[in-house]
Amino acid sequence: MCGIIGYIGTAQAAPVLLEGLRKLEYRGYDSAGVAVLEGGGIDTVKTSGRIEALAEKVRAAGGLSGSVGIGHTRWATHGVPNETNAHPHVSSDGRFAVVHNGIIENYVELREELISQGVSFRSETDTEVIVQLLDRCYDGDLKQALMRTVSRLRGSYAIGVLSASDPDVIYASRSAMPLILGIGAGENFFASDITALVSHTRNVIDMDDGEFAEIRRDGISVFDHSGKLIRKPERRITWDIAAAEKNGYDHFMLKEIMEQPAALKASIEPRLRDGRVVFEGLELDMSRFDRVLITACGSAYYAGCVGRTVIERLCRVQTEAELASELRYRDPVMDERTLVIVISQSGETADTIAALKECRSRGAFVLSIVNVVGSSIAKLSDFVIYTWAGPEIAVATTKGYTTQVAVLEMFALWAADRLGRVSPERYAEIAAGIARIPERAQRALDLNASVRRLAKRYHGNSSLFFMGRDLDYAVSLEGSLKLKEISYIHSEAYAAGELKHGTIALIEPGRLVIALCCCERLFEKMVSNIQQVKARGAKVLAVACEGERRIFSEADDVLLVPRADEILMPVTEIIPMQLFAYHVALENGCDIDKPKNLAKSVTVE
Ligand code: F6R
Repeated sequence: MCGIIGYIGTAQAAPVLLEGLRKLEYRGYDSAGVAVLEGGGIDTVKTSGRIEALAEKVRAAGGLSGSVGIGHTRWATHGVPNETNAHPHVSSDGRFAVVHNGIIENYVELREELISQGVSFRSETDTEVIVQLLDRCYDGDLKQALMRTVSRLRGSYAIGVLSASDPDVIYASRSAMPLILGIGAGENFFASDITALVSHTRNVIDMDDGEFAEIRRDGISVFDHSGKLIRKPERRITWDIAAAEKNGYDHFMLKEIMEQPAALKASIEPRLRDGRVVFEGLELDMSRFDRVLITACGSAYYAGCVGRTVIERLCRVQTEAELASELRYRDPVMDERTLVIVISQSGETADTIAALKECRSRGAFVLSIVNVVGSSIAKLSDFVIYTWAGPEIAVATTKGYTTQVAVLEMFALWAADRLGRVSPERYAEIAAGIARIPERAQRALDLNASVRRLAKRYHGNSSLFFMGRDLDYAVSLEGSLKLKEISYIHSEAYAAGELKHGTIALIEPGRLVIALCCCERLFEKMVSNIQQVKARGAKVLAVACEGERRIFSEADDVLLVPRADEILMPVTEIIPMQLFAYHVALENGCDIDKPKNLAKSVTVE
């Protein structure tokens, strides 16, 4: 969702801001803008649409000269995505400019109050109240004015502030929205995430809720909510800059699909020692829990659906998966005997954070599986297991999902062992299977050329179905989501046994049904379901395990993936489906890395 960036240094600010905004594009946006301090005033350039259009406008405006500035990519919440509603927003007297990510819940009340004091508003946004309020609170001390301003705000925010009266400083503050500070030499930064800064610095400070940063050319001071100076640890980013670049690939999504063997290796290898699963620092007595509840949104929830089955099967503990966006509303029964597993690639998903807080308030132990170090979910959890997938830029998650599944499988084995519910032989068998996940993922990628051919054949379908049973059903949910989010083709995932309870009415001649058949136990039942849809004229593309001969006489097209223990199949089985979604979207001319209406990090509820 929205991205913010700020720069103060000796270089020209506009190119730094525009480059940073390009790196934040992946978060999803529909308008953008920059503001630079120039000759004692603030110059602002904004546009609806893409950063390239903004860069063009900046060029047309003579380039915006000045070495202090702020920038923004906006994903519209309050007001349509046009130039007026784009950030930065400037106070009526032109002294202050603000960029904001988040939602100010009491903005109507604040707006009315300010209007009654004679302030006139230009935009429909919630953000404009921040800058107008700041203007009213300012009496020569910007830090005090900002503290007074945020004390009036309810909701979530990461804010960046530029002031024409204070040309040697920029401010940033956060509450429940991601914000990091970048430390350079003679220059400093703030941004929504590291990708925007990594080409300038690898030294960062993670901001916490309620804190303010005073950012000058020669240093950064951080204060707590009461204005007291605090010491914040610095963190060094170790990942390669190339990880946030396309590196010769046409799209981040394809690059990230291809990176999966490496991402899986990074997530698995350090945690497998002499055939044993080790989670450094995790001292959890599993016998204190009588149930496990997995919660997440979107693909992370679908990873959770795989995790639910694997954990329950190996640990023999009642395990459920529930959408984080729904969990709160049903007044869930849970206490300290519930282990809650929260899954999130970004660690910033608003609904997931809300569910996490709800679970903690009811006494549950929260273990999270997160990809972004220092993210909100990581900070709020009792224990974090990181997926070491590296930065994921494409909106459609791929390596994020597969590393989540792999970590869940490892956790299931670890927990089953702690509970004494897995024999040494079975343990060794599964651990050996886990060690070979990266290699199997690599072999699944070899299907790329075949999948591309199938995509050319089927990309014209306007609607299709995925079906599977048990773990195959969990994977089909993710396969279907991948396809619809980047190709905009209507698709539904069905538990194969459910089709005949209504949905089969929608099967008509030529309709494509993708049948996932990697659960060997259920193969015969899947064959029956394939026959049922074929009898009604459907075309069937089946995904099955290598060596499975029978499927060729049942399906129109077959993709075979490397065989493994049934509980370890999902990671490899999803890969041809990710490739299918990618190639179909490519055939249909879709904007693969930035699908319409979607954002990478969904920071609103
Ligand atoms: C789909 C996708 C989303 C995310 C969901 C949760 O490809 O990426 O469905 O999985 O928005 O995001 P995180 O994992 O960041 O909490």
